[in-house]
Amino acid sequence: MFLKVENLKKSYKTGDITTQVLKGVGMDLSKGEIGVILGPSGSGKSTLLNIIGGIDRCDSGTVLVDNIEITKLNDNKLTDYRRENIGFIFQFYNLIPNLTVGENIEVVSNISKTPLNTDEVLKAVGMLDKKHRFPKELSGGEQQRVSIARAIVKNPKLLLCDEPTGALDFVTSREILKLLQQINKDFGTTILMITHNSAISAMANRVYKVRSGEIVESIINSTIMPAERIEW
Ligand SMILES: Nc1ncnc2c1ncn2[C@@H]1O[C@H](COP(=O)(O)OP(=O)(O)OP(=O)(O)O)[C@@H](O)[C@H]1O
Ligand SMILES: [Mg+2]
Repeated sequence: MFLKVENLKKSYKTGDITTQVLKGVGMDLSKGEIGVILGPSGSGKSTLLNIIGGIDRCDSGTVLVDNIEITKLNDNKLTDYRRENIGFIFQFYNLIPNLTVGENIEVVSNISKTPLNTDEVLKAVGMLDKKHRFPKELSGGEQQRVSIARAIVKNPKLLLCDEPTGALDFVTSREILKLLQQINKDFGTTILMITHNSAISAMANRVYKVRSGEIVESIINSTIMPAERIEW
C-alpha cells in the first residue's frame, strides 16, 4: 500500500472542552490511484487530509506514505516530507496575489529538488498563455488550474485536494476534475480528494465515507468513470 492509515485519532481542545475529531480512522490507497473522501461538514475530512499531508499532527495511530511512517517524524523531518512529497490544492486557490502566474509556480519549483519545468506544467493545465497575468486577472477556474500547476511542479508523490471544485460552477468543476484525472494518468500521481459531492466518487478507485470522525464505509470501484461524464 502506498498510503496506509491505521487507527488515527485526533482531538482539539477549546477552553475546557475536548472534541474528538478523528476516532480511529483506517484507510488504504495504492500507488497511482485516486481516492475520494466523502462526508458532511465537520466530519473531520480536512483534519484527516492535513495529517496525511504533514500540516497537522495526530494524537495516536499511524500514517505510512510510501513506507515512511510520517507520524514518527520530528517537525523538521515532517516539513521535509511535505516539501518533497506532497502537493496541496485548496478550495480557494491560495495563490500569492502580487506574483504572476509564472512566479507563483516558481516559488515552489525553486525550493524543490527535482521540479518539472514551469512552462511544461502551465501547458499541462492549459495556462501557458496566461503566464504573465496576476491571479486577480483570472477566473476562478483559471486560478484553480494555476494552483494545480503549482502543486504538480514539484512532481509530488501524493496530491491532496481539499474540495478543489467547492467554489466552482458545474462546467468549470468538471474541467478541473478532468484535469486531475489527466494528471493522475500522465504523471502517475496518486490523488486523495475531499468532496461533499457524491457524484465525484464515480471517478475514484476508492471511496471513503466519513461520518463524525469515522470511516463508515470504504468502497472499491470496479469501473472508473471519465470525469467528463460525471453529472450532478
Ligand atoms: N484547529 C481547530 N481547533 C478546534 N477545533 C477544530 C480545529 N480544526 C477543526 N476543528 C473541529 O473539528 C471538526 C472537524 O473539522 P474538519 O475541518 O476536519 O471538518 P470537515 O469535514 O473538513 O468539514 P467541512 O466539510 O466543513 O470542511 C469540526 O467540528 C471543527 O470545528
Ligand atoms: Mg474541510
